[in-house]
Formats: sequence, C-alpha cells, structure tokens
Amino acid sequence: MIFKYAFGRPFKTDAVIKSFPLVNSLPDYIEMSQDKKSFTAKLGVDDIIYGLGESVRGINKRGFRYISNCTDDFSHTEDKSSLYAAHNFFVVDGEETYGIYVDFPGKVYFDFGYTDLDTLTVSVEEANYELYVVEGDNVMDIIKKFREIIGQSYVAPKWAFGYQQSRWSYNTADEVREIVRGYRDNHIPIDAVYLDIDYMDNYKDFTVSEKAFPDFKNFVSEMKDNNIHLVPIIDAAVKKERGYDVYEEGAAKDYFCKDEDGNDFVTAVWPGKSLLPDFLNEKVRDWFGMKYKRLIDMGIDGFWNDMNEPALFYSEKNLKKTMEELKKYVGKDLSLQELWDFKDLVNGLANSPSDYRSFYHNFNGEKVCHERVHNLYGYFMTRAAAEAFRIIEPDKKVLMFSRASYIGMHRYAGIWTGDNSSWWSHIELIMHQLPNMNMCGFMYVGADTGGFNNNATEDLLMRFTELSMFTPLMRNHAALGTRPQEFFRYKNIKTFRNLVTLRYGMIPYLYSEYLKSVKFNTLMFTPLGIAFPEDRICRHIEDQLMVGENIMIAPVYKQNTFGRYVYLPEDMTMIRFRSLEDRDVVPLRKGHHYINVALHEVLVFVRKDKFFFTGKAIQSTAELENNEYTFYCADGYKGEYELFTEIYKSERIHN
Ligand code: GLC
Repeated sequence: MIFKYAFGRPFKTDAVIKSFPLVNSLPDYIEMSQDKKSFTAKLGVDDIIYGLGESVRGINKRGFRYISNCTDDFSHTEDKSSLYAAHNFFVVDGEETYGIYVDFPGKVYFDFGYTDLDTLTVSVEEANYELYVVEGDNVMDIIKKFREIIGQSYVAPKWAFGYQQSRWSYNTADEVREIVRGYRDNHIPIDAVYLDIDYMDNYKDFTVSEKAFPDFKNFVSEMKDNNIHLVPIIDAAVKKERGYDVYEEGAAKDYFCKDEDGNDFVTAVWPGKSLLPDFLNEKVRDWFGMKYKRLIDMGIDGFWNDMNEPALFYSEKNLKKTMEELKKYVGKDLSLQELWDFKDLVNGLANSPSDYRSFYHNFNGEKVCHERVHNLYGYFMTRAAAEAFRIIEPDKKVLMFSRASYIGMHRYAGIWTGDNSSWWSHIELIMHQLPNMNMCGFMYVGADTGGFNNNATEDLLMRFTELSMFTPLMRNHAALGTRPQEFFRYKNIKTFRNLVTLRYGMIPYLYSEYLKSVKFNTLMFTPLGIAFPEDRICRHIEDQLMVGENIMIAPVYKQNTFGRYVYLPEDMTMIRFRSLEDRDVVPLRKGHHYINVALHEVLVFVRKDKFFFTGKAIQSTAELENNEYTFYCADGYKGEYELFTEIYKSERIHN
C-alpha cells in the first residue's frame, strides 16, 4: 500500500509519475508536528534504516544526520551531511517496516538517531511538500513499490559497461591517442575515453578547441574505428562572453536565472563570469537540450553533466562586497580572530548560502527563489539533455550521467559519485552507496575508480578496480595534478589486464542483471540484510553485497590486507579468479570463513541454486557475443538463466 499526503502547495518535481488519491490520516507510527514541518517515528533497538542514496557512512544510515542539499564538496569525509545528491527515500526495517519518500526540492533534514538514538526525525524547510508512506511485505517489496511509482530507470547502452578511462584533462587529440595506444598496445580492454573541461574553447559549453582538437569530427570517427567512444563533459553554467552564441541567445531570450531586480544573475565557474540557464523553465530545457546536437552531429554518443548542483565559485555581487570588506585588513597587523575572519571571507565565496538565496527561476510561470528548489537544478539540466536525445537520436541509447541528482532524474540518466579520493575508506564508501542509490532508482552508477583526489598507489587502484569491475559505470578518473592513474602507467600491467579482461568476461551477466533490475524494479546491488531477511547475522553485514540474483561479492578494502572474513548465508561455490582463464572453484559451507585474497585475486560467490557464467576474453564491447560461456556452480547443479540482452529481449541459457 502507498499512502500519499500533501501539505501546503507542493512543487511539481515530477519525481513520482503515478497519481494517487490523497489520504488524511498518517499511520500511527508517524507523529506529525503541528506546523507539518517535521515528523518523528520511534526506532526499535535493532531497526535498520536503508536509503538516502548517495550519502556518506554506512548502508544502514542510523546514527547520524543528513541534509538533502546538493553540494559541490570535494572531500567526502564521514562528518559531511550533504554530498551532490538529494535522494529523499528511506526504508525502516524493524519493529515497524515501512518506506518514506519526502518530495520537496529544498533542504530536507534527516535526523536518524543523531539527537536521540531511538528516534528518527525528518524536517522540511517549508510545509509545502508531498509525503509518501510505502508499506509492503518486506523491505524488497517496499522498494519495488516505490520504484514503480517513480518510473523506469534510465537504460545505458551496452558499450557503457566497457572500461572507461578519464582524467582532468587529456588536453589534446594526441594525448587521447596516446592513452588509447597505451591500452590497446598492452591488451587492456577499453571502450571509452573522457574529455574533461579542457577540450572546450575557453570552457564554453558545446564548443571544441580548434587548436587542441583540430577536425574534431574526424577525430571522433578515428576513435570509433578503434572502438573508442569519446565522452565530453558539459557544465551547467554558460560563459558570459559577447559573441558566444549560447550566451547571446540565452541572454536575448531571458533564459538565464535572474537576481532580485530581474537582471541576469552573474556567477563564476571554470570559464570565469558565467550565467545559469534556468533549467526549471521548460522552454530553456528545450533550447539547452538541443545544443547537445552539435556534438552528436560530430559522432558523440555519450556525455557527463557536471557542476550542476549548481557549483558557484563566486557571484559577481558577493565578490564585489568581499573585495570591499577585505580593504579593511590592508596594512593591518592581524590578530588571530582577524586572521580567521579574513580567511573566511575569501573561503566563503564559493557555494555561498547567501548566493543560493539571491537568484530566481521562472518555474511554471512563477518567480521562485532558487533556494526553495535547489535540488532540482542538476536533475532538470540532465532531463533537458535526455529529452533532446529522444528527438535527436530516437533509435539510439546515449550515455548520460550527472553529478547532481534528485529522484526523478533516474529516468533520464545515471550518476557518478563525484570527487572521491584515493582513500581506502572510499572503496568501502561506494560499497555502501551502491544499494542505497539503487533503492532510489539510480541503476547506472559508479565511483571514480582509484579515487579522484590524491595519488593512487598500485595496491589501492587494484583493490578499487576489484570492486568497480562489478559496477555498471567502471571509469577510472583522476584530478588535475595527481599521479597518472591509467592502468598501463603502473608496474603490474598484467594484473590490471587480467582484472579488466575479467570484467569484460562478466559483462553478459552484469548487463543482464542490470537490465533486470531496471525492468523489475529490483536492486542490482543488494545488502545481505535485504536478500536474506530471515538471517539475523546478515542484518549487520555491510561489506558484502549480492550482485544481481546469482552471486555475492566480498571485496578487500583495507591496505596491506591479503584476506578477510566472509559470511555465507547459505552454502555457496567460491570462484577465485586470478584471470578470466585462471581460476579455482571451491565449494564452501554456510557460515563464517576467513579467506585469503592476494592483491591480484577476485572472489565471486555463487548462490547454492544458481550458476554464474563468463564470456570470452575480448578487447572492447564491439566484440561481445552472447554465445560461448564458461559456467560455474555447485557440483551436479543443472539450471536455467534468463539472459537479458536488451530491456525487452531475453533468451534462456542452461549450464
Ligand atoms: C569537477 C568534477 C570532476 C572534473 C572537474 C573538472 O570537480 O567532479 O570530475 O574532473 O570538475 O571538470
């Protein structure tokens, strides 16, 4: 059962696409405040809270507070309450089991046992929102019901399951060629190379630097001939520059966000002074979306949308004010307090709350302050692109993923988890984010493999890869100034070759399970507590995941560790892969095990009454053939598997 409540005048977010009659009285486990701005529920000692998609900390969100407020934050430490996404859905699994979705595009506060361990409190900035309470037989049933009402998730093309290499930035066509050569010469499979901001002419969206990438169209097709897709970045803000047509058109048509007085709100991002397209306005979406055609016409078939929280380096007004205030420090001996104030002035320029309060949208004909609808911005930018793709490329799947997101955007694109770091804890973090993002509809997901910030050591990159090789988006991306992170730059190229080749061998299974989770509203990454609800031990396991219906993984995510404890909720068959061809198959009993895992090894655990399979070694997804498989299962087990190759196409295979 799903109960829908509406308070005040909710914004039309289009997150939920099914309509429901409104209900008046809330279930008795939820207590609503008089002003409707917050509600609480009691938590049993062993209750688990799953959800909130892309956020820090564990799979179980209990014991901290989170704020839905899409934020450009490059340091994902466990004290952060907001990352780039606003995924306001969670499920309480315990004495009462139910799901809650708060459809409000401004700030939403989730106090999950932070103030009081036994109470959850959700507060909303204003009493204009929709609230959905989802009840069902168990957690999985509740998730399915929720996913049904938010509509089918985006389906990525199969090539986007190939390995993808990125860096901020490959500056020229020759540099890209060198990267591709590095992979092809070393026989490490690859399908895509990313173009970060420097491919553009002065960071202007939908332009290509003639100097760095002469004859871009030919270059794209040269890469296609080598089975490489080029994936350019698109940033939300548009450079303010006379003569730049996107700026000129947008300004002439009043398509940019306005300040209080109705003038264009001027901010700054990579290109310097920039304007924010008002993606909440449908006309602006139609206009901006069609701009992607310029790159599509040159052969591009994948994009990543960035800086769309939106990130603001400063606003013109705030910069001016800050400059004035700084004057008072000139020639002064600063006391400690003054030094801090001085530093705060400059540091406070970026993503300043006062700036988010100072610009406006034309949302369904109404002037709306950005702060009230902040979390829709990246979603509506990405929606603009995806809706245009349906017109430009009606018969093709275009790869699209975004940094900022809100539930609803899952129908248009995937997400990556932004600027993580080359930290061991970030291997663990993505393991926690995967199932929670899936719950909220985001199925094409992944983290920057090896970490974006900081320098990745070889062992970290290997262990990171050993988890990423199961995620739909398997992209290695690193920040400007960090150690080169391409696999062939490291000493043990062979191990990376084996890992990526194994990934390609698993694509038939992974893509099929991905399609199934989209089609049937299930999870591709399932916590053991949800997959085995009767097993109490499983409720507390956060470092093992079911991947699809047939296998479980237990990655190593600690440095200098060559083994780990693994809990098997049932008898399973363990495959120890050293490469696609070199592996041992070991039957294991239900229960606790300590298992050695060398740096170059990957463990896959096959469920008792299922089989796993891998395809042949290939160099790109263009060589994928769904016909020759190696099967893995318990001795004597014979079974059938429905292999999905398209969302509406499947065949039955037998071991
Ligand atoms: C942002 C993105 C990152 C990108 C960089 C430069 O930090 O999150 O992925 O490399 O901008 O475009």
